[in-house]
Amino acid sequence: MSQTHFGFSTVDESEKATKVRGVFDSVASKYDLMNDLMSAGLHRAWKAYTVQVANLKPGERVLDIAGGTGDLSRAFARKVGESGVVVHTDINEAMLRQGRDRLLDEGLILPTSLADAEKLPFKSESFDLVSVAFGLRNMTHKDLALAEMCRVLKPGGRLLVLEFSRIAEPLRKPYDWYSFNILPKLGSLFAGDAESYKYLAESIRMHPDQATLKAMMKTAGFGHVDVHNLSAGIVALHAGIKC
Ligand SMILES: C[S@@+](CC[C@H](N)C(=O)[O-])C[C@H]1O[C@@H](n2cnc3c(N)ncnc32)[C@H](O)[C@@H]1O
Repeated sequence: MSQTHFGFSTVDESEKATKVRGVFDSVASKYDLMNDLMSAGLHRAWKAYTVQVANLKPGERVLDIAGGTGDLSRAFARKVGESGVVVHTDINEAMLRQGRDRLLDEGLILPTSLADAEKLPFKSESFDLVSVAFGLRNMTHKDLALAEMCRVLKPGGRLLVLEFSRIAEPLRKPYDWYSFNILPKLGSLFAGDAESYKYLAESIRMHPDQATLKAMMKTAGFGHVDVHNLSAGIVALHAGIKC
C-alpha cells in the first residue's frame, strides 16, 4: 500500500480522504467564521483577486472544484450572468450543504454536485474556466486531480488554483509561530476543534511550493502557467492555460 502525508503524519493513501473528510465534517458549520478570524478577512481579498484574474464573460461555463461554502461560485455566477453556468462542487456533503444553503439565501440557484476532483463526473472539454481554492492541498493524488481539471477544460480554457504557498523567508518565523500557536487555539475557542487547525498549519507546510506546483500544472497539460504571489507568498494564485 502506498503512503502519503496527512499534515506531518504518514498514512496509507487509502486513509487520507477519510481523514480529510473528518476535518471538513467537523469544521463545516464554523468554516466561514474561522476563515475571517484566521486570515483577518484577507481571504476575501485573495478571492476577489482570483475573480479579477478569471476575467469571466457573460455566457461562460465555470466549474468550481472543492467549492465548499461557495465564495467563488457566488462571485463567478454574477460575472457569467443568466446565459452562463457555474457548477458548485465539493467531495464533502456537509461543506456542499453549507454552500448551497448560503447561495440559496442570497437568491442564487446553482447546479450543485458532490464530486471528487480526482474523478470528475463531467464530460471532456466542457468548461471555459475551472477553479480550485484552498482545496488542492487536501487531495491525495494532486497529479490526477490536475489532469482531470485539464481534461474537462475546453482548449484555451483556464485553470485557477488559489492555495497556501511558501511565504517569503524573512516572514517565515513569525508566520510559523502564528500558525502553530495561534491557529489551533482559535480553532479550539471558536470551532471546538484544535486538531483540524493543527492539520491546516501542517498541510500548508507539506504542499508543493510555487515552482513545484507550476511544474506539476505543466505536466498535467497546461502549456502556460503564471504564478501570482499574494501577501508575500502566504498564498499563491496559479493561472494555467490549456494549450
Ligand atoms: C479549505 S476548503 C475550501 C473551500 C472553498 N473553496 C473556499 O475557498 O473557501 C477545502 C475543500 O476541499 C474539499 N476537498 C478535499 N478533497 C477534495 C477532493 N478530492 N475533491 C473535491 N473536493 C475536495 C473539502 O471537502 C473542502 O470543502
